[in-house]
Amino acid sequence: MKHLKTYKKLLEHYEQSKNLHMRDLFKEDSKRAQRFFLEVGGIKLDYSKNRITNKTMELLITLAREAGLNEKIKEMFSGKKINTTEDRAVLHIALRNRINTPIFVDGKNIMDDVNNVLSKMANFTDEIRSGKWLGYTNQVITDIVNIGIGGSDLGPLMVCEALKKFSHPRIKMHFVSNIDARGIEELFANLNPQSTLFIISSKTFSTQETMTNALAAKEWFLSHAEKKEYIKKHFVAVSTNKEAVKEFGIDESNCFEFWNWVGGRYSLWSAIGLSIMIYLGKENFIQLLEGACLMDSHFISTPFENNMPVILALLGIWYINFYGGGAHIIAPYDEYLRNFPRFIQQLDMESNGKQVDKNGNKIDYESGPVVFGETGINAQHAFFQLLHQGTHTSPIDFIVSLKKPKRYFKSHDILISNLFAQAQAFMRGITKDEVLKELKGKLKEEDLQKVLPHKEFSGNRPSNIILLEELNPRNLGSLISLYEHKIFIQGVIWNINSFDQFGVELGKVLAKDILASLDEMSEEFIQKTDSSTLNLMQIYKKYNS
Ligand code: F6P
Repeated sequence: MKHLKTYKKLLEHYEQSKNLHMRDLFKEDSKRAQRFFLEVGGIKLDYSKNRITNKTMELLITLAREAGLNEKIKEMFSGKKINTTEDRAVLHIALRNRINTPIFVDGKNIMDDVNNVLSKMANFTDEIRSGKWLGYTNQVITDIVNIGIGGSDLGPLMVCEALKKFSHPRIKMHFVSNIDARGIEELFANLNPQSTLFIISSKTFSTQETMTNALAAKEWFLSHAEKKEYIKKHFVAVSTNKEAVKEFGIDESNCFEFWNWVGGRYSLWSAIGLSIMIYLGKENFIQLLEGACLMDSHFISTPFENNMPVILALLGIWYINFYGGGAHIIAPYDEYLRNFPRFIQQLDMESNGKQVDKNGNKIDYESGPVVFGETGINAQHAFFQLLHQGTHTSPIDFIVSLKKPKRYFKSHDILISNLFAQAQAFMRGITKDEVLKELKGKLKEEDLQKVLPHKEFSGNRPSNIILLEELNPRNLGSLISLYEHKIFIQGVIWNINSFDQFGVELGKVLAKDILASLDEMSEEFIQKTDSSTLNLMQIYKKYNS
């Protein structure tokens, strides 16, 4: 990034503009809110409360052009193998390509496969929801357990929670990801094996946590159903690894396929979304895809100046690479979106948490931010203090729906007022003079002077406000796609591969080694292992002996 011509210009611009206060920028320009505002489908973005001027945006957009963003977008959408370290195309956009334009991987139009799996999912969904699919004692399915982790868990979990009000009244969804014997025991105690369907979701079908939980589920099921032939009625798999699915004992006809050009954290649009489709119905799943497709079309066809994912990505670059902000906060003011921050956390941090560029050279600039978040009002009473008065400049994305619920609509007024107020407080802050005015006469002069520095807020803290007309499948689809593209664009500017995740591999390998050595340690293991790890293992063994 540093070699780009405009990078230097941005550095100069940062030096010239870093002391501008948003309070003054708003005062000077009565049209600021309208100028820094975008709308795509059911999503509106107010980005006026950022430390930007017209010039900032012009320079950032030039930077994106110099980084070859136009070409890179074309490469992704046409199926070029842009995940170079794994030699894979990156085509989650094909899964929601509702206009069906042909997309080729290794000379094959993949849209036929995409549509075939979608039809298979839809047929299965209809059978479960209509009550045609029966368990081994002829009971209808009432409970679905999705067993998966990371991308094979968080996406479906987040969407099912967010869109709960569209769910089937008979069907309850459960998500198992962590290996925690107590968690699974508690779940099984409340499930009826005769009316439960397990979806084993794993791209590789080899992930230790998922396979351990899947085996526990099979064991629990067989302890009730007894006959192996009944597995067919209660276990389905979603995977790219058909062989491993067969070996596990799941019928081939119960395997829903996807492909290595779908990254785990980008996979909720694929068969990994089977639990979503069953819970919400195929029409709602299609609406989710349609919403994402709408954002995809906006992304590929809109000039950067008005392109929502481009604008969000560039604002992130502005803070991370020029202000040195290392965190990004997601604050949905919506209880149903409570898992959205966790989902974006994986999407962003697993994608852009990289320290070498595409050529393997160590980068000398910041890449992906630390992403965290929490539902709005709860966050206000937890960590917003640091965001208001701490020493970091960490941008916040506020997310809320405009539509009031039919019941408790007054609560929505309170919720949204709090959101608007927080964004305003972050932007404006409160000056010493304002504090003085407020406290004059209420405190002794001496006490007033003491408390003054503590009560002052510098303000000038950036935020984006994302308004959903309402939280429905279509708008949620657009929202997720917005973040996916934002992350891709930032990866392009940093020249990193956003689509591999080797960083999580080392821990997996070491865990296997440690597990194998818990009972008995070989000399070789002792030699290669540090004393802290050995000591901890001994303490654990002793405690359980
Ligand atoms: O550990 C990280 C990861 O590889 C994620 O990228 C992925 O979503 C998750 O594990 C689950 O992998 P799988 O779907 O193969 O079980």
